[in-house]
Amino acid sequence: MLFRGIISLSLIGTAIATGRPSSTSICDYYTTGLLKDNTAKNQYALLTLLVNTAVIGNYTEPSNGVLVPGILNPKGMYNGVPVNLLPYFNGCFVSTNTGEAYDLKNNPPKSVNFLDGGGAAPLMNNMPASDMTSAQYFLLTHLYQYFGALLGCSKYGTTDFPAYGGEGSLYRVHQYMGLDSNEVNYFITQVGLSAASFGVAQSDINIVASTLSKTFGYKCSPPVTIIPAQGPVLDSICTGSNCPKDPNAKCELYDNNYGNSPRPAVAPQCMSQSSSSMAPSPTCPGQYTVTVTVTKKPKQTHMWCHKNWQSGDEHKWCN
Ligand SMILES: *[C@@H]1O[C@H](CO)[C@@H](O)[C@H](O)[C@H]1NC(C)=O
Repeated sequence: MLFRGIISLSLIGTAIATGRPSSTSICDYYTTGLLKDNTAKNQYALLTLLVNTAVIGNYTEPSNGVLVPGILNPKGMYNGVPVNLLPYFNGCFVSTNTGEAYDLKNNPPKSVNFLDGGGAAPLMNNMPASDMTSAQYFLLTHLYQYFGALLGCSKYGTTDFPAYGGEGSLYRVHQYMGLDSNEVNYFITQVGLSAASFGVAQSDINIVASTLSKTFGYKCSPPVTIIPAQGPVLDSICTGSNCPKDPNAKCELYDNNYGNSPRPAVAPQCMSQSSSSMAPSPTCPGQYTVTVTVTKKPKQTHMWCHKNWQSGDEHKWCN
């Protein structure tokens, strides 16, 4: 079971050297490589680029031609199955948990628009949102912070790279979404493609994707520590009918009917478009493959780098 859920990534037509010493975290290594100085600000900038690109798709043309369709893309595809995660973000699904228990009566799911801080426009300017009080700001900054911890950023938890301030259990956050395997894997794939578009090495993408798959992509996974300050928490995000069960399943710890959540309801304001926003019933892949197609020969064979990166700059190769 060691290789379950591993992404096999084929970079066609390029040679990106890894060269990352095992003592250097993925976050620190690529911050230095892409943004030069390994400061908290630059680590946070790296996470901003990575997450924003995964969420809205590549918003500049990557030098290596890697296309990132984006998490919000309503025409996503995973394993030949259409995937549309947009209704979870724009309030069209009544799927947001704002409480602490799976309790449809006393803590019912809500329709929340997470694109209320300017939508894609601020993300294209390498910002989380145009409005710091928006749900969008809350979500995006939490993603930067969470992935910062996951990728081992050495400046995580400092003034310029605040520690993750959200709900510890990602099962809790996603308990009303009833996400299926294709939906979770589509999300993970976008993170992998985003990293690939910045020249992150295949071996490092595999490490990240495997961690995400193992932590979130199974039903009933036992408690795990991702955010050190929060200790072990329930993190299974895959709660739909086709999610593979964790080999060490602890379903009795999950209060949503032993790890199973139903599909969310469609919000009234989106009823007319409900048929197109409902995900079709998917298949259940135990293992999956991301094929990254590099359509252009990069101008350099290492990763791209960017000196003195400023908000609004375009991504450029070093030479
Ligand atoms: C995203 O990447 C693809 C492939 O390189 C490219 O054709 C497309 O123009 C890029 N999108 C933007 C908005 O730059």
